[in-house]
Amino acid sequence: MRTPQAAAKPMKLEDIYTLITDDMQRVNQCIARRLHSEIALINQIGRHIIDSGGKRLRPVLHLLTARALGYKGDAHIDCAALIEFIHTATLLHDDVVDSSELRRGQGTANALWGNEASVLVGDFLYSRAFQMMVGIGNMQVMAILADATNTIAEGEVQQLLNIHDPETTETRYLQVIHDKTAKLFESATQLAAVLCEQPPAVETAIARYGMHLGTAFQLVDDVLDYRANSSEIGKNIGDDLAEGKPTLPLIHAMRVGTPAQTACIRQAIEAGGLDNIDAVRLAIESTGAIDYTARLAQSEADKAQACLRGLPDSIYTQALHTLAEFSITRTY
Ligand code: IPE
Ligand code: IPE
Ligand code: MG
Ligand code: MG
Ligand code: MG
Repeated sequence: MRTPQAAAKPMKLEDIYTLITDDMQRVNQCIARRLHSEIALINQIGRHIIDSGGKRLRPVLHLLTARALGYKGDAHIDCAALIEFIHTATLLHDDVVDSSELRRGQGTANALWGNEASVLVGDFLYSRAFQMMVGIGNMQVMAILADATNTIAEGEVQQLLNIHDPETTETRYLQVIHDKTAKLFESATQLAAVLCEQPPAVETAIARYGMHLGTAFQLVDDVLDYRANSSEIGKNIGDDLAEGKPTLPLIHAMRVGTPAQTACIRQAIEAGGLDNIDAVRLAIESTGAIDYTARLAQSEADKAQACLRGLPDSIYTQALHTLAEFSITRTY
């Protein structure tokens, strides 16, 4: 549900960054400072991936939520930075697991320095995030992040088990995207409510907002893996198919496609590789599987917005609405 104010004056992503410029500057300073290590390779790889940008969506969500709930302290800066560290660690690991070569418009760390270095620097970032959490000194913050990182690992392992398995169901797929992606979005918003010492009902609502938004975000990511412009999104297209990943566009196309379309996709999932990407793309477009996935993303974004109903109306709440919309309209 959009507030009347949001409907009258739609915001852009740039407006959102402007809204939290000061906070974001402090987060970026914190990131640069805490990235530092005595080991040169850690600085090199850390800076490579951090300086190449990224949308910084999870820290933005955390900061906006903290502002929407009237936060007056400083802990949101460290918290936003450590959330981005966890995200960055998962990206370093993810690109190894997915054999990806392009991220944020640059060669991946694994392509440039090798798998070993990427995994180990990912571990450095993870553990640095936990050091920062201890610095915040709030047991609830630690509990939420310990659970979230554990869930993310489970999601990635479950996804590994789904690879090359054309029998993967929509339910199993949805569990994976909830765990590997939505959980960190959920933590980003929930943690802001915790810092603001909100009552349980508000904490739950804002956590659900993050979870639904993260689910929409990953559904769209899985569509974009077939459809995006590689230079715009900064990643190679077709990485999911190359790895034999049964994402929702494929799962749905196999469900409703002709026997020939279903067989083509089945074979592509089992074998991996990009030999049949054109036929697969045609099948997911013509069976309506892209639309089906996009519709589900829309419904998740709607649910996310509905969770914002109880929040005080402000420019920050409006920005949270805009982010839900961005999660489905995005092209990068
Ligand atoms: C990439 O996340 C991983 C997914 C969950 C799809 P983002 O699209 O937020 O990556 P950056 O940080 O903007 O590069
Ligand atoms: C998101 O899935 C992975 C993480 C949550 C780390 P993807 O593997 O689809 O992410 P991209 O497309 O490589 O960014
Ligand atoms: Mg990947
Ligand atoms: Mg992956
Ligand atoms: Mg992807």
